[in-house]
Amino acid sequence: MGRTGGVTVRAPAKVNLELRVGAPRADGYHELATVFHAIGLFDEVQALPADDVTLTVEGSQAELVPLDGTNLALRAAVLLADRVGVDDGVHLHVRKGIPVAGGMAGGSADAAAALVACDALWHTGLAREDLHLLAAELGSDVPFSLLGGTAIGTGRGERLTPALARGEYHWVVALADHGLSTPEVYREIDRLRAGDEVPEPEISDALMQALRAGDAPALGEALANDLQPAAFSLDPALERTLAVGYQAGALGGVVSGSGPSVVFLTTGPEHALDVAVALTASGVAAGVRRAPGPVGGARIVEPVRDR
Ligand code: C5P
Repeated sequence: MGRTGGVTVRAPAKVNLELRVGAPRADGYHELATVFHAIGLFDEVQALPADDVTLTVEGSQAELVPLDGTNLALRAAVLLADRVGVDDGVHLHVRKGIPVAGGMAGGSADAAAALVACDALWHTGLAREDLHLLAAELGSDVPFSLLGGTAIGTGRGERLTPALARGEYHWVVALADHGLSTPEVYREIDRLRAGDEVPEPEISDALMQALRAGDAPALGEALANDLQPAAFSLDPALERTLAVGYQAGALGGVVSGSGPSVVFLTTGPEHALDVAVALTASGVAAGVRRAPGPVGGARIVEPVRDR
């Protein structure tokens, strides 16, 4: 499609290695301390010249993706056009490889990919920092989808600092046959913690040290997510999924973000296959994926060619 002036961008899924959630703020968001980690499951967004801004979606669970003005990729294109004063339209075609509403930032990946693709298509020449600011307007996880790798997120998740991290990790993702609504999971954690003193969110030294050392067993032990009890409360079957992964010898397992995907850390590709087979055989997961991490953020895979 490059010959027709199109551009294709690939953006990764994320997992939160640690997700600490503070008390709700006045604006309704929660103050976070988190460690984002991009893994090798990707969505692709192809941007083609068009008169209007339009969208199509293909891939597994594509029918769950909204096609209206709430779609984050569409909103990204409209926001960018508006800010840089571009009158051109674009047709966005999204290929889903990231579970939809799975707690893995699939919608955010599409928004990040759409920003990078439209930026290239329209030759807007925005600096990476400008794209980051637009990304933060679109959603808390969108800036990380641009950045990729392993990074500490604060604020509502949009303030990023790359983390000192060594090593390659081998993940297994257990997918559910349904999504969980992120706002609903946040509401549930507030309900479960009502009346409790909620401490300032903080990343553990154990996790940062494991990353610095590239120590997979220590990282497995340090995986943590404050939203996990809320995800379990809304979807009790996830506890069984987590137990099956541990029984299969995973170094650690945790609900990804607001769920319902559950991610497991393994010792390497062969062990990842064992854990994946055990999850499939047990019937607890609707699907299982294996993916390495960290991987890079949103990147052009098919450059713009001038007609
Ligand atoms: O920023 P984003 O649109 O992705 O957030 C989706 C929803 O998740 C928010 O409307 C809010 O309910 C919840 N959220 C939150 N605190 C955060 C991030 C998200 O409460 N730090």
